[in-house]
Amino acid sequence: MKKIQFTETVLRDANQSLMATRLPYKDFAPILPEMDKAGYYSVECWGGATFDSCLRYLNEDPWERLRRIRERMPNTRLQMLLRGQNLLGYKHYHDDVVEKFVELSIKNGIDVIRIFDALNDFRNIKTALEATKKYGNERTVASGCISYTQSPVHTVKKYVEMCRELKQMGFDTICLKDMAGTMSPAEAEGLIKGIKDEVGDIPLILHTHCTTGMAYMTLITAVLAGVDVIDTATSCFSNGTSQAATETLYYALTQMGYKTGLDENVLNRVNDYFKPIKQKYIDSGLISPKSMGTDSQALVYKVPGGMLSNMIANLKDMNAMDRFDEALLEIPNVRRDLGYPPLVTPLSQMVGNQAVVNVLMGERYRQISNEVKNYFRGEYGISPAPVSQELQDKIIGPGNKPVDCRIEDSRRTGREFEDAKAALGELARSEEDIMSWICFPDQTVKFLKARREEEEHRVKYSIVEE
Ligand code: CO
Repeated sequence: MKKIQFTETVLRDANQSLMATRLPYKDFAPILPEMDKAGYYSVECWGGATFDSCLRYLNEDPWERLRRIRERMPNTRLQMLLRGQNLLGYKHYHDDVVEKFVELSIKNGIDVIRIFDALNDFRNIKTALEATKKYGNERTVASGCISYTQSPVHTVKKYVEMCRELKQMGFDTICLKDMAGTMSPAEAEGLIKGIKDEVGDIPLILHTHCTTGMAYMTLITAVLAGVDVIDTATSCFSNGTSQAATETLYYALTQMGYKTGLDENVLNRVNDYFKPIKQKYIDSGLISPKSMGTDSQALVYKVPGGMLSNMIANLKDMNAMDRFDEALLEIPNVRRDLGYPPLVTPLSQMVGNQAVVNVLMGERYRQISNEVKNYFRGEYGISPAPVSQELQDKIIGPGNKPVDCRIEDSRRTGREFEDAKAALGELARSEEDIMSWICFPDQTVKFLKARREEEEHRVKYSIVEE
């Protein structure tokens, strides 16, 4: 029987989804050697919001965190999520920076780099892929990731074409990333069968969330349809806005006759370890009951939960909740005008806000946000379907064309990393420090200054590290 492998997400996506990525290293350090024995395909532990959160809230060096995890988990593939040319944020970086970031990630311990672009504009993931191939070793896996969404243009045929392109580009695996948790079992079946039939033997991974309550059904259906790897979280950090539970799927799939390579006793010990940690953050209020429940609204309105709550907050601010239904009806129109972008950050907020503005102004696009204007200028990449020509003319002027190269090509100096090094001076002690600063300058300066002060303090009072 086929082997289905698991990626454990407790350290990254579950942490990010349930508790805003505030899990400090010291809370999970003791269990890492045990997790190393579980038999996971990989442990997702870095990238996404972990990097920002380490510097901003936890006073941790994200690179140091990665090196420590590596030390304590020598046998498991460590995985990160990378937003292509945007690295860990929403800004486009130059190729030299993207390449250096990938080089340092691998050097500090990352094995699997899952690379995506919000618009599935694969020009934005090419540099990161090439760097992964250039600096990778025999353990390195470049995973091409597709942002999953539903729209009239997002057909099985289109996804199959995307997979074909990713395989052709040289990715080792392909991941379908359903960040809103809106992929239904029927959609998963059609999609995965379609991909497996057409694109053949490249390993296929499904990443989804329990947000709408469909994840378990969708994952089981995906396995039956031929998926190879699934993303799950240790059970006490599962469900709600997080992933489906590792032990539950292990149990179900084992009974169905699948091999998983997982050690059940280790899985249980991992979960036992995290239980009191979860309770601690429930007690402190960092984990809210809302994030642990099921919210089927996203299925009814066809928009992700986060986008909906953002819209509601906006409308409440403006004392206009009575226009909520109208704003919801406007979303598909805005989305069509923008060429059906996947509803992920920051596009989900852009579409939601524009729908609200369109309704409240009483005239469509009388006011257009700067983000939407930049989108029409081509700065986010190519939209999945053509945008509204009328709106494009209005924004960039008739006859003008959006930028047809990646935005950073027109601005690049090729010296962004070197410039950053010069700007930081002796505050930075390593290439990793410089890279942190490029990604999150304010937080990094604060962090580096605090580190220097702490060291001076230690020298002054001769504190010896225990
Ligand atoms: Co996710």
